[in-house]
Amino acid sequence: MRKFGLIGYPLSHSFSPAFFAEKFKREGHSDCVYEAFPIKSIDEFQSLLTNNPELEGLNVTIPYKKDVFPFLQNFTEAVEKTGACNCIKIKEGKLTGYNTDVIGFEKSLLPNLTTAHTHALILGTGGAAAAVEFVLKKLGIQFLFVSRISKPGSSCLTYDEVTREIVNKYKLIINTTPLGMYPVVNSCPGIPYEHLGKEHYLYDLVYNPEQTLFLKKGAEKGAITKNGSDMLIIQAEESWKIWNEDTTP
Ligand SMILES: NC(=O)c1ccc[n+]([C@@H]2O[C@H](COP(=O)([O-])OP(=O)(O)OC[C@H]3O[C@@H](n4cnc5c(N)ncnc54)[C@H](OP(=O)(O)O)[C@@H]3O)[C@@H](O)[C@H]2O)c1
Repeated sequence: MRKFGLIGYPLSHSFSPAFFAEKFKREGHSDCVYEAFPIKSIDEFQSLLTNNPELEGLNVTIPYKKDVFPFLQNFTEAVEKTGACNCIKIKEGKLTGYNTDVIGFEKSLLPNLTTAHTHALILGTGGAAAAVEFVLKKLGIQFLFVSRISKPGSSCLTYDEVTREIVNKYKLIINTTPLGMYPVVNSCPGIPYEHLGKEHYLYDLVYNPEQTLFLKKGAEKGAITKNGSDMLIIQAEESWKIWNEDTTP
């Protein structure tokens, strides 16, 4: 049996186990299983590997995206630059780390990108924001972060500093905060939505609900909008590709 899985804690609301169970059934991978491993501490990781020698791949979620680094023999540039690993390939006892947030975000962002989107605002400064930063740098899109915390001298604004001029120039706006996520659906990042127009592209990493308040306010001004559900699915498919391809970084 080929074994794959997910480590994190807690894992009760995770997307991946149901996604892979359905995928294996639909595509006839009857020799594959996908298991959730809700480990309470990273100290349990080595024994998990030892007790599951048939493991070929793992997804990694909160809070272990950094904690798995000492176990990796190799990792991609995206893992190094973002400081986060959310996918591991295991081959001949060696662990290689990947960041599929980066791949999922880039592939899902590109179809709606136009020449108007030369400048971007990244709302939030957490783990997902680092993946977004990596992709924007790769695509040559200039960006500023927007944070609740003032960071003088950095390329980071506070929400109060997002003026009409800023919004007119930074036409791609990406929400990497959890604001608007179920069940607190009536919240959204505090940007001046009244200055948005049809050249703006609002991308929300949140995917539940389908249309967050952030996206609704953008759509009301004619902006292009996109939620995080494609990113989520692309990431999962990308893990499968990584676990099955021969190449390493
Ligand atoms: N679609 C996908 O595939 C996908 C993938 C990864 C993540 N996500 C989603 O992206 C979101 C962020 O994930 P993450 O791992 O980056 O989380 P995180 O590390 O906790 O970072 C979120 C950032 O949002 C800001 N923030 C947090 N609470 C806030 C609040 N109440 N008001 C305003 N800003 C707030 C903070 O930045 P400041 O302190 O600088 O304000 C924080 O660093 C989550 O909703 C997650 O589900 C989706």
